[in-house]
Amino acid sequence: MTKGTVLVTGGVGYIGSHTTVELIQQNYEVIIVDNLSTSQKEILEGIKKITGKKPVFYKVDLKNYNEVKNLLKKHKIDSIIHFAAYKAVGESVEKPLKYYENNILSLINTLKIAEEYKINNFIFSSSCTVYGQPKKLPVTEKTPVIKPNSPYGNTKKIAEEILQDTTEPNKNLNVVSLRYFNPIGAHPSHLIGELPIGVPNNLVPFITQTAYGIRPQLKVFGNDYSTPDGTPIRDYIDIIDLAEAHIKALEYLTTSKNKKNFEVFNIGAGKGYSVLEIIKTFEQVTGQKLNYTFAPRRPGDIEQIWADATKANTVLKWKTKRTPAHSLKTAWEWEKHYRTQIVKKSI
Ligand code: WQD
Repeated sequence: MTKGTVLVTGGVGYIGSHTTVELIQQNYEVIIVDNLSTSQKEILEGIKKITGKKPVFYKVDLKNYNEVKNLLKKHKIDSIIHFAAYKAVGESVEKPLKYYENNILSLINTLKIAEEYKINNFIFSSSCTVYGQPKKLPVTEKTPVIKPNSPYGNTKKIAEEILQDTTEPNKNLNVVSLRYFNPIGAHPSHLIGELPIGVPNNLVPFITQTAYGIRPQLKVFGNDYSTPDGTPIRDYIDIIDLAEAHIKALEYLTTSKNKKNFEVFNIGAGKGYSVLEIIKTFEQVTGQKLNYTFAPRRPGDIEQIWADATKANTVLKWKTKRTPAHSLKTAWEWEKHYRTQIVKKSI
């Protein structure tokens, strides 16, 4: 008996695909819309291998409202989880308009779909980058949201403002915004994982590609920060923990437990790790020596952030269960699995 139908935008992406697996395994029907601009269709095969089910998939760009609206009119959708967005902090500094156009217009069109088809449960993929560099750590949901350090973070801040304003006149629309910290790791089956196209922007896929020999060396962007080892600190959260947080948020909305029709939650482990600590942990759990060097700071980066996730722990009854050591191991297993699959296909 299905628990309902969920539209997952960006569902072929890293977080979207892992959340889709959890949704299917929790008896939800899933419809994915994704333009495959930053993801690869073979991830759908991985979802099928893990769950035994291939979600309905439409290759469509959310910036084309009418196309998306017509595709979805034959479905009865109960909830939306909106992931579709570009998400590289560094790249957004170099190409701000690409980020504003894509991330904001996609959100607006997805909200219009929700209104058009009276879909009242909406989960938004937000980010801790809305906090910029917080003055006080750990950050709670009451920490001031200031002008983020990057256009990427600003698109998330603007999106949250659009969502909040949209829920004002439409009391039927219930929104939860999940402010993720740094997602890492891969599904334990090694059948899906992070699959950046081109040179990875994020730390962990760059680490695993360097360890595998795809990249000659990892550049550590800055070791002159005011942190214990000089490298930036982040709150790294396992991708399955993160996917499970979406199930909890969905249940929170579909059982009308929410007190207000716009609520935000920090989704983090509540502990910070430096870049060097992540490198050392990777080397320990995989036995791979990593070739890295120190380089100048990356524009848009903040120095340190980690979450106070008490609200999600108590209200959503969710908390992390996995450690960065576990996540780095699964990331490495996925990298090896993916590369051997490429070799097999090329033979
Ligand atoms: C982490 C640290 C880099 C690459 C991410 C996502 C964003 C949001 C928040 C969800 C930084 C350093 C990186 C490299 C490095 N998550 N680094 N060399 O910037 O914290 O943002 O989490 O929405 O979507 O992008 O993550 O992995 O890029 O960087 O030294 O080659 O690793 O400087 O200190 P970031 P990241």
